[in-house]
Amino acid sequence: MAVKQPMEDAIIDLHCHILPGIDDGAPDLEESLAMARQAFDQGVRTITVTPHFLPHGDAPPPDEVRQACAALQAALTEHAIELELLPGHEVYLTEEVPRLWREGKLLPLTGEGNKLLVELPLNQYASWISDVLFELQVAGAQVVIAHPERYRYFRDSLELLEEWVARGTVLQVNAGSIVGHYGESVFKVVERLFEQGLVSLIGSDAHSSRRRTFLFDQASAQLHRWGIDAGRLYANHRRLLAGEELDRDIVKALRPWWRLWA
Ligand SMILES: [Fe+2]
Repeated sequence: MAVKQPMEDAIIDLHCHILPGIDDGAPDLEESLAMARQAFDQGVRTITVTPHFLPHGDAPPPDEVRQACAALQAALTEHAIELELLPGHEVYLTEEVPRLWREGKLLPLTGEGNKLLVELPLNQYASWISDVLFELQVAGAQVVIAHPERYRYFRDSLELLEEWVARGTVLQVNAGSIVGHYGESVFKVVERLFEQGLVSLIGSDAHSSRRRTFLFDQASAQLHRWGIDAGRLYANHRRLLAGEELDRDIVKALRPWWRLWA
């Protein structure tokens, strides 16, 4: 099979709502295929599908996600789109999540191992969040926090995120945040997260081929303008799945130029 670029440069997307009709992502197979073609054109070769798991709402069980993932994989093969799909969940954090994890009701990224993609409440911080993240860690999960830059309560202080990262939590920002698609305040938080060396991964969080799309190409260009090597960040995606140590000095080592005179 012809591949557009060497595998070492291929992007693994660890956050994507491409499964048809399962959450607020692709509504049907046609849209899933359009998203897959777009991802491929941007250098993505592997996607961990991460439908929302809302403990008090839509919560597709692991078997349903695995089946939907296999069905879409078959459709991709049929349409000669050379993307590998792996199952996963994007889990909305509640106090029940550690129990659900222990009971095997949540899918880790790739469907095996201990990397769990978690999203937090968007607007309001709750005092139990830090404890629940710790409980998950004690239960063996390595938590990947989805789009920390989008949570309003981190706009004033990144202190909590620094603490969490210091104890092994991994931060994944959205490609769209890097290119300003969520507005100026989110963009500013992303800038600070990079500046402080807290970002390890970039997810597309793509929901469609038209509105919330992949944007890895634009994000890479913006990172380049900041003096950050996007390839080193994308290499972290592979390292995470392989259980290897993450490259955490990507930005610190570079000393971002946009702060040199600040
Ligand atoms: Fe998402």
